[in-house]
Amino acid sequence: MNVALSTAQDQRVYNFSAGPATLPLPVLEEIKDELLNYRGSGMSVMELSHRGQTFIEIQRETERRMRELMNIPAEYSVLFVQGGGRLQNVMIPLNLAAAEGTVGDYLVTGAWSKYSFQDAQALGRGHLAWDGAPHRFARLPSNEEIAWAPNASYVHFTSNETIHGIQFHSVPQAPRGVPLICDSSSDLMSRPVRVADYGMIYACAQKNAGIAGLTIVIIRRDLLERVTSASGYLHYRAHADSEDQMYNTPPTFPIYVTGLVCKWLQDEIGGLERMAAINRDKAAVLYRALDEHAGFYIPHAARNDRSLMNVAFRTASPELDDRFVAEARRHRLSDLKGHRSLGGMRASIYNAMPLAGVEALAQFVRDFAQRNG
Ligand SMILES: Cc1ncc(COP(=O)(O)O)c(C=O)c1O
Repeated sequence: MNVALSTAQDQRVYNFSAGPATLPLPVLEEIKDELLNYRGSGMSVMELSHRGQTFIEIQRETERRMRELMNIPAEYSVLFVQGGGRLQNVMIPLNLAAAEGTVGDYLVTGAWSKYSFQDAQALGRGHLAWDGAPHRFARLPSNEEIAWAPNASYVHFTSNETIHGIQFHSVPQAPRGVPLICDSSSDLMSRPVRVADYGMIYACAQKNAGIAGLTIVIIRRDLLERVTSASGYLHYRAHADSEDQMYNTPPTFPIYVTGLVCKWLQDEIGGLERMAAINRDKAAVLYRALDEHAGFYIPHAARNDRSLMNVAFRTASPELDDRFVAEARRHRLSDLKGHRSLGGMRASIYNAMPLAGVEALAQFVRDFAQRNG
C-alpha cells in the first residue's frame, strides 16, 4: 500500500450517517485503482458511453450479482432508475393502482412511509391501513390492528424506517393475492429476503447498496402488464422493454459502484446470511451498551421492532444530546446527530460499518454515561 493511501485511510472516521453513508473500504480502493483507466479502456467509468459494450457489461454484471445475492427469481425484472426513493412514491400508484376504483393500501409506520402514503393520496389512490403516528412511530402494527381496504391493488410498506429506527423482522401478512410493495431503501441486501413474497422491492442505493443517483426496482413481470396512467419515464414497462433495459441514460457510475458493493458482499462477506449475522452482532453490541445505561439513554424504538440498521436514541436533554454528538466527533465518531424531526442521536450501522466502529461507539456510549450520569 502506498503512503498516500495509508494516510487517507488513517484519517478516515467512523461515519454513522443515514445516507449517503459509509462504503466498504475495499470498494473505495477498487474505485480508486480503476478511476483513470477502467480495465484497459483508457477512460474512467464516468466517461464510458452507456450504449458501449464496456458499460453494458458493467450493467449486466451488477444485475447478475444482485440476482445471485438476493436469489431473485427469473420472473422478476431488475430496473436501474433515477429519481431516488421519492420518485417511486409517484410511480407506484400511477403504474399499479390506475384501474378505476382501486387504491394502494399503506402501512404508515414512520416518516418515509408517510411520504409514500401522502404522494399516493395526492393522486387519489392512497388508503391508510394503519397509522403509527399516535404511537410516535415507535412500534409496528400487529396483523390484527391493520384495516385493509377491500379494493386494494397493492399493499405498500417500508421495511426499515430510517428516521424512527424501527424495522419489520417478518413480512406483513397482506390479504391473499394482493402484491406487497416494499420500500427497502435502508435495508436492501442487509439480510436475505424471499423475493417471491413481494410484488416489488425498491431501494435508493445510497445507504446499503452504493451511492446516490441510483434507485433499484425489482418488480414481478406480471405487474408490468397492469392498466397504467403512467407515460414516458414514469412507466415501469418503458424501462423493462427498452434495449438493455435502458430507457434513457442510466446513472452509470452509481450502477458500477453497486456492482462493486455486490462483489464485496459475495466475495469478502460471503453472502446475505453471513451479512445478516454480522449485522445482528453489531446491533446487539450497540443496544447492549444503551440498555446498560437505561435511565440515561432513551432508545426510541419498542424493543421487538428495533432496527438493526438505524439506532435512534436520546438522553434526557437536548443540550446533553448536542454534547454527545460533539464529543463523539472528537473521537472520530461522525454524523451521530438524529434527524431534525426526532432530535437526539441516530447511529446508522449499515453493512459497510465495521464491527470495530460499532464497538468504538458502544465504548463511547458507556464512557459518556459514566461521566454525565
Ligand atoms: C426508507 C426510505 N425511503 C425513501 C427514501 C428517499 O430516498 P431519496 O432521498 O433517494 O429519494 C429514504 C431516504 O432517506 C429512506 O430512508
